[in-house]
Amino acid sequence: MNVTLEKIDYNKLNCSVVFLYGSEVAPRSLPFKKEELAYVESCRKRDAGSLVVLNRLPYKIYVQNFDSELPNVEALERLRKCAAEVQLILEKEGVTNIGIGGDGIIPEEAAAFLEGLHMANYRFEKYRSKKSTLLTDVVLEKHILEQGALEENLRLWRRIDTLRDWVNEPVMYLNAPAFADILQAEAEKLGNVKCTVMGQKKIESLKMGGLLAVNRGSEDEARFVVLEYKPANRINERPVALVGKGVMYDTGGLNIKPEDYMVEMKSDMAGAATMSSSLFAAAENALPVWLMAFLPLTDNRPGKNAYAADDILKMYDGTTVEITNTDAEGRLILADAIAYADRLDPELIIDAATLTGAAVRALGTSVIAAMQQDADKPFSLLNIVGGQVYERLAPLPFWKEYDELLKSEVADLINCNLHANAGTITAGRFLAHFAHHPYIHLDIAGVAFYSKRESFYGCGASGFGLRLLYAFFQMYEATKKK
Ligand code: BES
Ligand code: ZN
Ligand code: ZN
Repeated sequence: MNVTLEKIDYNKLNCSVVFLYGSEVAPRSLPFKKEELAYVESCRKRDAGSLVVLNRLPYKIYVQNFDSELPNVEALERLRKCAAEVQLILEKEGVTNIGIGGDGIIPEEAAAFLEGLHMANYRFEKYRSKKSTLLTDVVLEKHILEQGALEENLRLWRRIDTLRDWVNEPVMYLNAPAFADILQAEAEKLGNVKCTVMGQKKIESLKMGGLLAVNRGSEDEARFVVLEYKPANRINERPVALVGKGVMYDTGGLNIKPEDYMVEMKSDMAGAATMSSSLFAAAENALPVWLMAFLPLTDNRPGKNAYAADDILKMYDGTTVEITNTDAEGRLILADAIAYADRLDPELIIDAATLTGAAVRALGTSVIAAMQQDADKPFSLLNIVGGQVYERLAPLPFWKEYDELLKSEVADLINCNLHANAGTITAGRFLAHFAHHPYIHLDIAGVAFYSKRESFYGCGASGFGLRLLYAFFQMYEATKKK
């Protein structure tokens, strides 16, 4: 979807227009006739968020009423959701070009509506013969948004599209080597991101016992990808390390997933897609933050010489792990990546992972389960920006006492406590064992992928979390102040 800034002439429309009508005080310059205005006002009175359609044959003006008296972040989220409804109507009517104008609207509100529209206008249809009719060109009334702000937003929104494409792609077309190639090509295209791809041999020589074990049942090699964006004007002296779970497909391994628990597990690399995309978005928009991403990539399958329950692994940092369930694979590959990142002395480690079904059961599908160790300040910033962009965190306790549940008779740790209490927290505690720097753990299992359409996040890969991380990097300087 292209967006350009132009003047809209309501007397000579050359496409349909969405008119955002907020509740700020006059003066007004509404492009409506008297009787139209009376009709719009009566609809607003009945429902402050109503959509009113005015005919301007052969075009239409869709008047989107909205209530900006609400607490601001809620008003903005409501606008994103309104935009998703509008997108469905435009799709049904076969509209590909529209204008967006407005009155009583501030730039943040226009940006939120556009954001919702852009995200709702995404489909994964490359394998479908019949494609949806989506928006291709949007003209935004000139004074509403600055050109620079619009372009920054567009780059971010296109990153969300790309992220969603990666997560939606089936493993038969996107295995670990293929994803590593894509990340490398993307880094080369940007020019200011360095990409190192470690292959099977290198991973073996590093003795990444977790990544190697999970990969053993696979026909495809594993990869370990490291990205670095290190701008000259960086505000941090040591890097922020982003770690993402890159299980290209999770069958469960020998503890194979039953019935319909397997479907959608192509999304088990959403953490790696989100973390790499957030680094790329920062690089594209030249944010002054030094970032590194650590992405362990493999699928998890039975077969070949697949790792088994009762195996005892030696991890990259020397910790030994008794396997109790091969379906708790994410924490094994992440542990090696976290330990690797940890040795580079980062000032903060953040991971994102579709880690536990327990997170979905406990919290549902609209929040991220979030935990932290020694990272009060960045965690509270992340929590605040999460509220602002409405990609919110649900902080869970992360006490050391939970480590009791990870004790093994024969090794340093078990990979999963079989009596499954506090599954989301113990998975996080397992990872925290490998981090000796301020650490934030984000379990995105509930939000990364939707089985049915979830407003502007759509159906399938949602891209949830990218706006959160981007906003966090934008505000990162706040963690430096006393
Ligand atoms: N990838 C899954 C977690 C998952 C489940 C993500 C549902 C998204 C939706 C993870 O590897 C897994 O299988 N976890 C197990 C852990 C269990 C064996 C302790 C789970 O949550 O059932
Ligand atoms: Zn699993
Ligand atoms: Zn998994």
